[in-house]
Amino acid sequence: MIRSTIRGTGSYLPEKILTNAELEVLVDTSDEWITQRSGIRERRIAGPDETTGDMAIAAARAALDNAALTAADLDGVIVATTTPDRTFPAVAAKVQAALGMNPGPAFDVQAVCTGFVYALSVADNFIKAGQMKRILVIGAEKMSSIIDWKDRTTCVLFGDGAGALILEASEGEGTLEDQGIFSTHLYSNGAFRDLLYTDGGPSSTGTSGHIVMQGREVFKHAVTCMAEVVQEALDANKVTPDQIDWLVPHQANSRIIEATAKKLDLPMDKVVMTVERHGNTSAASIPLALHEAVADGRIQRGQLLLLEAMGGGLTWGAALLRF
Ligand code: ACO
Repeated sequence: MIRSTIRGTGSYLPEKILTNAELEVLVDTSDEWITQRSGIRERRIAGPDETTGDMAIAAARAALDNAALTAADLDGVIVATTTPDRTFPAVAAKVQAALGMNPGPAFDVQAVCTGFVYALSVADNFIKAGQMKRILVIGAEKMSSIIDWKDRTTCVLFGDGAGALILEASEGEGTLEDQGIFSTHLYSNGAFRDLLYTDGGPSSTGTSGHIVMQGREVFKHAVTCMAEVVQEALDANKVTPDQIDWLVPHQANSRIIEATAKKLDLPMDKVVMTVERHGNTSAASIPLALHEAVADGRIQRGQLLLLEAMGGGLTWGAALLRF
């Protein structure tokens, strides 16, 4: 049976670090409030001329190096992003050209913070259907470009960056011992679209708008939706929480992550946490966290990983895979 395995990972973070102390000067907030409510201490901010596409390209190059592959080995590219360089064409087209890939599918996926899980699922299904053998999957965001820097309820939470991985078709036995993705689970409930949105867009205001969020409401849904979708991923594969080696969650808020880990009865030393240093990088947060834990040797080949995310839409999703 065809399985999509992770051949390599890579990431890119902008140089500039914005600390909570620096935010105290911009808005009426405190390091204590931000840390207690979200777990965030600092985040990276892209340079004025640095775009989502630039960060995506840097992460993609790192993933290609890590996989010991060249652009010619790739059949397609999918970028999960909410903050594209241009309304069109897709960021993926820019990545494709910059890497010198052969013509093939290149498109963006927009599911806000769940974007990477959506993109991974789309790529996995292309591979399972036999339509592509190797796909570059990227999550890249310049969230700083859609933040209202006068709004303390949102500007303290987000950051910029990009993460990438290369999915490759391989033969599996069809058992839980296989390497690769076992299942992905995607959801959206558009009835909640006004809990988290931008107050603009090309066909409404003609601008990209700024993030508006009912934080407390989103928080409540996040904890419930996350617990449900994670359980669904485990049940679908007859896996019990103790079999999970690593939870690699979307990094929105340490309290949401801790609540999910608690529901699974997973100790926090089995959870990859980057929110403290990266903030919420939306679609980039899972591949950034994944690459960090692979690069520092925490995540090892053969380990069972559970990925989960939740974001605007409201969207949510999970993926279970063996690295
Ligand atoms: N500094 C100081 N005080 C603040 C700040 C700030 N930066 N922001 C808000 N406050 C104040 C509020 O005005 C409020 O004051 P009041 O009680 O006098 O009205 C008080 O702090 C409490 O505000 P809440 O919003 O109720 O605080 P809460 O405990 O819910 O924490 C937070 C806010 C961190 C946003 C939390 O709700 C959260 O993490 N929500 C989920 C975010 C998320 O997961 N989003 C999904 C992904 S994002 C995406 O898809 C793009």
